[in-house]
Amino acid sequence: MPSPPAPARTKAPRSRAARGAASPTSQALSATPAGAQALPARSLEGGAEPVPAHRWQGSKARVWRQILGHEALQRPGGGRWRRWIEPFYGCGVMAQAAISRGLADEYRLADLCAPLVIAHRALALAPAALLARLALLAPKPGASPAEAERAYHAAAGWMKHHCRQLRAARGALPVDLTVAARFLLLLGSNFNGLWRVNGDGEYNVPIGRRSASAPPLVYSLAAARPGLLAQSAALAQPGVSLVCADMLTTVEGAGAGDVVYADPPYVMDSRRGGKLYRHEYGDADHVRLLDVLAGLPCAVMVSGYSSTIYDSSPLASWRTIDFNAMTRGGIAIERLWMNYPEPAELHDLRYLGSNFRERERIKRKKARWQAKLAKLDPLERAAIMECLRELEAVE
Ligand SMILES: C[S@@+](CC[C@H](N)C(=O)[O-])C[C@H]1O[C@@H](n2cnc3c(N)ncnc32)[C@H](O)[C@@H]1O
Repeated sequence: MPSPPAPARTKAPRSRAARGAASPTSQALSATPAGAQALPARSLEGGAEPVPAHRWQGSKARVWRQILGHEALQRPGGGRWRRWIEPFYGCGVMAQAAISRGLADEYRLADLCAPLVIAHRALALAPAALLARLALLAPKPGASPAEAERAYHAAAGWMKHHCRQLRAARGALPVDLTVAARFLLLLGSNFNGLWRVNGDGEYNVPIGRRSASAPPLVYSLAAARPGLLAQSAALAQPGVSLVCADMLTTVEGAGAGDVVYADPPYVMDSRRGGKLYRHEYGDADHVRLLDVLAGLPCAVMVSGYSSTIYDSSPLASWRTIDFNAMTRGGIAIERLWMNYPEPAELHDLRYLGSNFRERERIKRKKARWQAKLAKLDPLERAAIMECLRELEAVE
């Protein structure tokens, strides 16, 4: 597929905890959590969509379908991947879609942001207790702006210092309901769903407002609940693990049958604002990441934007797919790089159609044909079947 150059685009900054060398303890989240719901049946063809657990800078919540629903990204030869390895988990919406879709036998998920990992592990292992804690800490329904501000500042003040302690945390972090609930509450009512820490590792995002003169955002547990439960149900599936780790550790040991989906923080030169915060993913990190990804003996899919670093990296020889994505700064062209060949044939017909409208049209057409064929005499139907087989043999 041709890949026109992407325009310069902006991405709001996100925080990043300091990195360390400790390796994560791979620990599945498959203990059936009390209160976790059975995974609802989902489908890429217009059925229930993954519901993000919370806002997150750079979340793929709006574009997951363009990535997972693209026929060119299917596993060559069909079937499931051995492992879905996602080193930049974020809000986990891609993992939720991949898990609910059954794309792999196992899912190895990780992110460097410790409070995020604690919150999602708590979601998987103790959703009922976490929701109860959130209900205690969140402003009551109908809370006044002053009450909302008080709840926010209590959580932000506490998190400011707690975050610093978590800076060097790694591995399968223990469930801490207070960290988890406060993390979710802050993300649900702060400025732009931003998670940012200052140079000392302290949380420092102000409360959100729709405009400078508008009242503060009030966290709503009722609005957040569907996303929290959807993520909880996905993470609680057998074979899913989520740890706090640097991406280099997460992709170690990736091998035949695995797919690595990497969605790193954006490159500075593709951001209008340039470098804003100390704990950013710098150019040297990207260069190292791309070298490591290019050396992996498995399928790799990378999300990002065209930039000098990416365009002059080993990924320059990979096949790419570009698609439009709506961002705060307007429409931007997102790119996917893949090191594996395009499937020669469509193994999973649910991917048929390049966008939602086309998939819906094909689905309706299929339903019409099915209804017509069901009314036919069985012998006549068999004759049509034979005709289709003959056509297939000729093609
Ligand atoms: C673009 S976001 C991923 C968004 C995710 N795909 C989603 O849909 O929410 C990048 C993520 O990388 C994480 N991160 C930054 N540096 C990292 C590192 N060295 N290793 C692992 N994760 C890192 C950030 O905490 C952030 O969640």
